[in-house]
Amino acid sequence: MTHRLREMYSVVGLLMLLEFLAQFYTIASSGFIKVANEIANTENVRVASAATQEIEPFGAAHAVIGVFVVPLTIAALIGVSVGARYPRRTTVLAGLLFLLWLIQFALAFVGFLGVAALAGLHGVNALAMVGLGLYLVKSNWAFGRPTPAQAPPTSNPTR
Ligand code: HEM
Repeated sequence: MTHRLREMYSVVGLLMLLEFLAQFYTIASSGFIKVANEIANTENVRVASAATQEIEPFGAAHAVIGVFVVPLTIAALIGVSVGARYPRRTTVLAGLLFLLWLIQFALAFVGFLGVAALAGLHGVNALAMVGLGLYLVKSNWAFGRPTPAQAPPTSNPTR
């Protein structure tokens, strides 16, 4: 049961890393759409003004994944970490990931208020989230490892 939960931890962690990747992809695509609209704006005012009225799908995807999907996935990772009886340090580090998400959210709001120099840390904090996420998934990867029942004893109690 514990091994199954550890495998689930790996799956949830992998999913989280894919969501982080999606965040990088969507925000880059969103930026290019804005630039393309600006170029069109200088060439054809009528087409550009129609385009800028539309809801930009990549920015919307970044917002939905960032506000709802990522925090729910991190919360699931914390829950599975507890259920899988991982050491306290592993669960605390998953909690730290949630704290980084809160900072990520706050930095986006700082950006909406127009303090761009501070909001730029949103990109740096994203790298910290990726780094910590990679560390947690890699160091706790459960697939291909022996279950506790199959594993040979690691220490000699008589020594
Ligand atoms: C771990 C990865 C990331 C997460 C979890 C994340 C999360 C968020 C959240 C929660 C928002 C607020 C959305 C809203 O309230 O509408 C946001 C907005 C934003 N993020 Fe990220 N983000 C990530 C990566 C990045 C990266 C790598 C960049 C760029 C280098 C970036 C640039 C932006 C920008 C420009 C906004 C404001 C515009 C918009 O919402 O489309 N984000 N992000």
